[in-house]
Amino acid sequence: MVTSTTVTGVQQRGLSWLAGDAADRRAAGLHRELRARAAGDRLLNLASNDYLGLSTHPDVVAAAGVAAADFGGGAGASRLVSGTTGLHAALEAELADFFGTEAALVFSSGYLGNVGVIGALAGRGDLIVSDAGSHASLIDGCRLSRAEVVVVDRGDVQAVRDALASHPARRALVVTDSIYSVDGAVAPIAELYGAAQDFGATLIVDEAHALGVRGPGGRGIVAEQDLAGAPDLVVTTVLSKSLGAQGGAVLGSALLRDHLIDRARTFIFDTGLAPAAVGAARAALRILRAEPERVDRTRAAARTIAQLLGAPEPEAAVVSLIVGDPDRAVRAAQLCRERGVLVGCFRPPSVPVGTSRLRLTVRADLTDDEIATAANHIDAALREVGAR
Ligand SMILES: Cc1ncc(COP(=O)(O)O)c(C=O)c1O
Repeated sequence: MVTSTTVTGVQQRGLSWLAGDAADRRAAGLHRELRARAAGDRLLNLASNDYLGLSTHPDVVAAAGVAAADFGGGAGASRLVSGTTGLHAALEAELADFFGTEAALVFSSGYLGNVGVIGALAGRGDLIVSDAGSHASLIDGCRLSRAEVVVVDRGDVQAVRDALASHPARRALVVTDSIYSVDGAVAPIAELYGAAQDFGATLIVDEAHALGVRGPGGRGIVAEQDLAGAPDLVVTTVLSKSLGAQGGAVLGSALLRDHLIDRARTFIFDTGLAPAAVGAARAALRILRAEPERVDRTRAAARTIAQLLGAPEPEAAVVSLIVGDPDRAVRAAQLCRERGVLVGCFRPPSVPVGTSRLRLTVRADLTDDEIATAANHIDAALREVGAR
C-alpha cells in the first residue's frame, strides 16, 4: 500500500484525513447539515434573504417560466460565446437605470461578481484594503487577486486612511459591504468613499443586503448617500435576495463594464446566468419600482420582531440574536424549527468565535400575526437553551 508521509512524519493515505476533520468539526459544534425544504411546507421562514417576498410572487415565477420556455433551462455557454440573450441585455440596462450608473454587467452569482470585479481591478503590486465585515466573496476576490491585502476593523475609516497612506501601490481598492451580512449594520460608505478619493483609490461597495431594503425606493446605501454614479465607485449587488431570483451584478461606468467583459475571469469562464433567473429578476425589479412600499414593510417587520425580542433597532432587514456557544445556537435553531419557525444559525467561521447566533431575516409579506408567533417561539427556544 502506498502512503504519503508528511514533513511531521505522519502517514496519510488520500482522503483518510477527512474522518478526523469531521470528528473535529462535530466536537467543536461546527458540523453543518443540509435540510431540504419541501414544496409548500408551512414553516415560517425567517432565514431567507427574500426580503421583499418576491421569489414566490406570481409575476416573478411566471417570468421565469416564460424565459425558460423562450431560451431553455440554461444559458448553454459563457456570455461571451452564445450565453447572452436579449433578456440579459435588458436586465443590465434596467439595473443600471435603477442604480443610477452608466452600465451594469450580470454574473451568474453575486459571489462570482465580487470575485470577478476584484480580480479584474487589482493584481500583483496593488493594494486592497478590506473591511473585516466583508462577505466571503469579497474576501475570496481579494485572496485570488494576488494583491497585497490589508484587513481593517469593521467601519474603521481612519484605519483605511492609514493603510492607504502607508502602502505605496500601483493601484488601490477599498472593499466593503454596505450592510454587513451577519448583523445588518450599515457601513460608513460616504466616509469610506471620501478616504478612497483622498488617496486616489477605488471603492467597491457590495449592496447585496441593501437592495430593496435601504435607500430611495430600495436603491441601496450608495444612493442614500447621494453617491450613485460617482467616479471611482463600483457597486456590486445580487439578484438572489430582494429580487428573489439568482445571480449578481456589477454596476459602474461603461468603461468598467467593457473592462470586466475582457478581464473578469468569473465572467469569461463561466456559463451565463440561466434565462429563468434573468426573467425572474427583471419581473422582480419591475415590482420593486412599482411598489416601493414593500421596502417600508420589510423595514417595519424588522423593527417589530426586534422590539418583540428585545433586540436593538435594526438598520436593515437582519436581526441578530447572539447566543455565544455554537451548540446552544444550533439547539435553539432546532427548537424553533420543531415549532415551525425557520431561523438562521451563524457559527464560526461565519462569525467570530464566541458569537454564534440566531440570525433572523424578515420579509415584506410577513403578517403581524406571523411575526408575533415567530417571536414567541424564538423567545421560548432561547430560554430553553439558557440563552436568556
Ligand atoms: C454581502 C453578500 N455579498 C454577496 C453574496 C453572494 O451572493 P450570491 O448568493 O448571489 O452568490 C452574499 C450572500 O449570498 C452576501 O451576503
